[in-house]
Amino acid sequence: MGIYRKHIFPRVMDWAMHQMDELRPGTLARAHGEVLEIGFGTGLNLPHYPSSVRKLVALDPLDALPARVEGRIARAPFPVERFTLSAEGGLPFEDGRFDCVTMTWTLCSIAQPLPALQEMRRVLRPDGQLLFIEHGLSEDPGVARWQRRLSPLHRRVTCGCNLDRPIDDLLRRAGFVLPEIKRFVLEQGPRIFTATYQGLARP
Ligand SMILES: C[S@@+](CC[C@H](N)C(=O)[O-])C[C@H]1O[C@@H](n2cnc3c(N)ncnc32)[C@H](O)[C@@H]1O
Repeated sequence: MGIYRKHIFPRVMDWAMHQMDELRPGTLARAHGEVLEIGFGTGLNLPHYPSSVRKLVALDPLDALPARVEGRIARAPFPVERFTLSAEGGLPFEDGRFDCVTMTWTLCSIAQPLPALQEMRRVLRPDGQLLFIEHGLSEDPGVARWQRRLSPLHRRVTCGCNLDRPIDDLLRRAGFVLPEIKRFVLEQGPRIFTATYQGLARP
């Protein structure tokens, strides 16, 4: 693994993702029971989970900033089991195991989003919920054009993040229904990054 991916990118990611903390409680407050978090990153969601979470299973192919993350896990009021694993290519869990799956600013980085979402759907209980906040394809055609142009370059410097994923469309194609979805643009930041999708999907 290169120095950039191992040492520099995780620090930049941790700093950048901290700027999103305000949005996290609005989604994570609804988590409960046994939760699978896809794209655990540096554990920034941990303080935002409510006491109704019994256990968190945290999955990410990157073991970013291990010492910092261990400290965050130690402060969590529920057990955290970690898997250094990608969400595509088959999750090692039985059908219908989880009450909730959570995913924040991660679908943009999953190389094959459809098989990964299908796996998330499989491991959710039939009455379970996928709670998500993602950035993706803008509703503004001018911004969307720039997202498509810049995505290949952006992917290279951000270890795989795509700017132009149609999040709602991908969720539906994977078989989820979307009883709740909000689309909005963040006030701060370049418009290619700020088109946001936040909501709840059911399997
Ligand atoms: C922008 S970070 C977001 C981290 C965290 N969810 C947050 O809200 O701070 C995206 C994360 O997705 C992870 N990721 C990339 N590809 C993945 C995959 N195939 N399966 C699961 N996670 C993946 C990355 O390693 C990274 O930790």
